[in-house]
Amino acid sequence: MAEALNGLKRTNMCGDLRESHISNTITVMGWVQRKRNLGGLVFIDLRDRTGILQLVFGEEINKEAFEKADKVKPEYCLAVTGELVKRQSPNENLPTGLVEVKGENIKILSESETPPIYIKEGLDAAENIRLKYRYLDLRRPDMQKIFMIRSKTTKVVRDFLDENGFLEIETPMLTKSTPEGARDYLVPSRNYPGMFYALPQSPQLFKQLLMVSGYDKYFQLARCFRDEDLRANRQPEFTQIDIEMSFVEEDDVMAINEALIKKVFKEVVNEDVKLPIRRMKYKEAMSKYGSDKPDIRFGMEINDITSVVKDSEFVVFKSAIENGGSVRAIKVENAADMGRKKLDKFGEFVKTYRAKGLAWIACKEDGIKSPMAKFFNEQQMQEILDKVEAKTGDLVLIVADKDSITLQSLGALRLHVAKELEILKDNKEFNFVWITEFPLFDYSEEENRYIAAHHPFTMPMDEDLQYLESDPGRVRAKAYDIVLNGEELGGGSIRIHSSELQETMLKVLGFTQEKAWERFGFLLEAFKFGPPPHGGLAFGLDRMIMFLAGTDNIKDVIAFPKNQNAYCPMSEAPNMVDDKQLKELGITKAEVK
Ligand code: AMO
Ligand code: AMP
Repeated sequence: MAEALNGLKRTNMCGDLRESHISNTITVMGWVQRKRNLGGLVFIDLRDRTGILQLVFGEEINKEAFEKADKVKPEYCLAVTGELVKRQSPNENLPTGLVEVKGENIKILSESETPPIYIKEGLDAAENIRLKYRYLDLRRPDMQKIFMIRSKTTKVVRDFLDENGFLEIETPMLTKSTPEGARDYLVPSRNYPGMFYALPQSPQLFKQLLMVSGYDKYFQLARCFRDEDLRANRQPEFTQIDIEMSFVEEDDVMAINEALIKKVFKEVVNEDVKLPIRRMKYKEAMSKYGSDKPDIRFGMEINDITSVVKDSEFVVFKSAIENGGSVRAIKVENAADMGRKKLDKFGEFVKTYRAKGLAWIACKEDGIKSPMAKFFNEQQMQEILDKVEAKTGDLVLIVADKDSITLQSLGALRLHVAKELEILKDNKEFNFVWITEFPLFDYSEEENRYIAAHHPFTMPMDEDLQYLESDPGRVRAKAYDIVLNGEELGGGSIRIHSSELQETMLKVLGFTQEKAWERFGFLLEAFKFGPPPHGGLAFGLDRMIMFLAGTDNIKDVIAFPKNQNAYCPMSEAPNMVDDKQLKELGITKAEVK
């Protein structure tokens, strides 16, 4: 039977009690971690989100309380009152291990069935069970720690931005589709049957409009919705620290956001981030790391060896070069003894990145081993090794193909090899880097047209503006991403603030003038009324928390996340709705066969 509080007040949290509280009468409330009956005494470990406290009950202390305490089971919810005393046998592993409460009164606030999840630190239960009983999973101390970190982080962010003159303003959830490159989640409208709101992929257009309105220095902890394939660092519903400023250029936006990062990492995990954060141009990131989010905690950079192999007789290399491609290599130090099986596996790995194969050279003590040895004389071989600075003991891995494939596959292989060899195992670094001078457009082979690399509101670099229509592929953007240990933590840009330029941009992206006005008319219209130069950035808050909390799974930092199929096993969303609801919306269901 659940007992009521009847005016009983908690005096302390479990985890806060120390020797200085001894002799006080304490009332604590929480859940039973475990109970032991040692003959004349019952011991209960009571847990709340601050920690665990030992309670002791005995016939001598209070008979009624003792008998009631003996009935409790794990996860019962209790309120216990009694004197705090010194513990007979201290527990050094517990912050409260020197004290205990002499249980004089106990209320069983509610009972608990045996939980399907063991409430303890470092649980290793199946994910679908954890998500189905998320409220119990969240009761676990390691999960509670994460949400304390999350709460602390958002407080530090808000305080910092407030101190720096930013205003927090909310923007709509029911809105018109904003193109950030993913699929929209749509919400049918009752007032306009057959029409839909889109949930925002980000507040991009609204924050730009707020700049037009003169709300210089905006921020929002903004919920964003994107219907895309989920991964370890992606959820359909996630949170951005979204920022926009007027009268600024790239350096201004980057400076304030660096300061924000420094503050957050110092206050939340006591980590000193050195400023300024290193900057790397997109082109360098791609050519050295084959990625626009390079992990620069280790070397193993990609080398272009095209010039030294161009005269070889090896057809694979020759044809790649003749077709305008390149031959590139990474050097893995002290890995010349890598087994054949593993090398074959690496070969399979690069094929998933559309490479046709992987060539290798092992610089063993007793000479060079390589499947392509017969195509190279000694001098040519040495030239390759010199080019990548390989010495005895090193392994060289080579891909020949068009640039996009050699770079991407070697970039991925570099990370894969580092993981296999556990190069980063004990690395505790937070290694930040800004990536700058992104291309304004990516060419979509599928759609046969240019698409916006960041989003269509990004300002081209001044010196490339002249090529916007004639040669879009060479135009660089005033865009920047902040990358941490190989993950994209945030990204932003200086925006276009002229109606004409915005229209040209949309034209290059394949919008007719009519279509452009239909989709973005409100922005183009707004730009007729004195828009200030502006720019901003958005951090993925969830990703930031992942780093601060030291987890590599985004679901750990979101209280009620979706699973890999965008489903919530607890609430069972998405789900059917009543026919009446559909009718009101003018929606008929397709037959499901
Ligand atoms: P972008 O699309 O780069 O930029 O998003 C900004 C940051 O949000 C995070 N992020 C995600 N986190 C979790 N799950 C997802 N599905 C997900 N998608 C993105 C990433 C990313 O760096 N409006 C622009 C920002 C701007 O220009 O100011 C934007 O949304 O960490
Ligand atoms: P093959 O001529 O197919 O027997 O290949 C000889 C070696 O070259 C094998 O080790 C292949 O994995 C490797 N190889 C094949 N295609 C490529 C490529 N595009 N780039 C690098 N190595 C390759």
